[in-house]
This record gives sequence, C-alpha cells and structure tokens, in this order.
Amino acid sequence: SQSESGSQDYLFKIVMIGDSSVGKSNLLARFARNEFYPNSKSTIGVEFQTQKLLIDGKEVKAQIWDTAGQERFRAVTSAYYRGAVGALLVYDISRRTTFDSVGRWLNELHTHSDMNVVTILVGNKSDLKDIREVPTSEGKSLAEAQGLFFMETSALDSSNVTEAFYTVVREIY
Ligand code: GTP
Ligand code: MG
Repeated sequence: SQSESGSQDYLFKIVMIGDSSVGKSNLLARFARNEFYPNSKSTIGVEFQTQKLLIDGKEVKAQIWDTAGQERFRAVTSAYYRGAVGALLVYDISRRTTFDSVGRWLNELHTHSDMNVVTILVGNKSDLKDIREVPTSEGKSLAEAQGLFFMETSALDSSNVTEAFYTVVREIY
C-alpha cells in the first residue's frame, strides 16, 4: 500500500517466545518506548506493538507480538504464530533452565510457522554477569548449530536491544 508520505509500507509480524520471566515484555518495552519495568507482571494473553524502523532509508513497520511464557496464560498457539516472518527466542543468561527450554520453543515455532522464519536467539539479562549460568560461547554454539542469529542483550541497561530487533527485520527485508 502507499502511505501518506508516498513511500511503500512493509508490515512484518515478529513473535517473541521463551520461558516466563526471561524479559520478553521488557525487551519490547525498551525497544518500542525506551521503558523498563523492574517489577513487571507476567503477560496474560497477547499484546503487540507496531514499531517503525528505517532500513536502507526505507520505512519498515514491524508488528511485534508478545505472549506469556507460562502455558496457562498463553493465547491460542496457532493464531499467535500465524503469518510470523521473524522471531526472537529469548532465554535468561542467569537461569540455565530457560536455556534448556530453547529446543522446545524451536519445535513449537517450527510446528506452527514457516521453516524460513528469521530467528534470533537472545540471551537476555547480560547485566547480571555476577550470577551468569550460561556462558556466551554456549549460546553462540547452539545458535550456530540451529542456524539462528545470536545476541546477548539487557533490557535493563539497553545493550543490544535495538540491534537484536534490527537484525531480524533487516534479514526479512
Ligand atoms: P512472561 O510474560 O511471564 O512470559 O515474562 P517475560 O519474559 O515477559 O518477562 P518480563 O519482561 O516480564 O521480565 C521478568 C522480570 O525480569 C522483571 O522483573 C523484569 O524487570 C526483569 N528483567 C527483564 N529484563 C531484564 C534485564 O535485562 N536485566 C535484569 N536484571 N532484569 C530484567
Ligand atoms: Mg511478558
């Protein structure tokens, strides 16, 4: 479609997945509004934000979907993944169990969406280096083995947050 400025619009659906409390909602809040919530509640159902990004001077719109990591709070799985062209699969570098779940999330993603969905593995909470349980090298290796992009981020101190979203959108575009 043509936008008011006369430039072409692109709308890409991107989904956030990963265990509860890894920081999915805060990554999105940091990216979309430059906000951070130290005591955020678990997401219930689905929320999404539409965000404009500039790629090679062209305006691209990303519709970023966020749902609960906890099964009981989640929306209908097939609807959540439908039409997604990108995914951020998030774990918490300070909680090994969330890294152990990555395979399960990848299975769900591939069951419900196109195999070509551009995916980045995101090790969030890189600010918690004193209680790190997952070395950077392990995240990197898993991503390589699964053909995923990889980045460590912190929604708290903002490091790599914009970069992680842009990595996905740039590759889709
Ligand atoms: P669900 O909605 O239950 O799936 O959780 P979520 O993945 O959306 O996690 P959420 O963003 O709600 O964050 C969970 C907790 O981790 C909150 O207390 C956040 O403040 C905290 N948190 C999120 N990102 C970071 C981060 O980068 N560093 C630190 N130290 N804490 C973070
Ligand atoms: Mg959430």
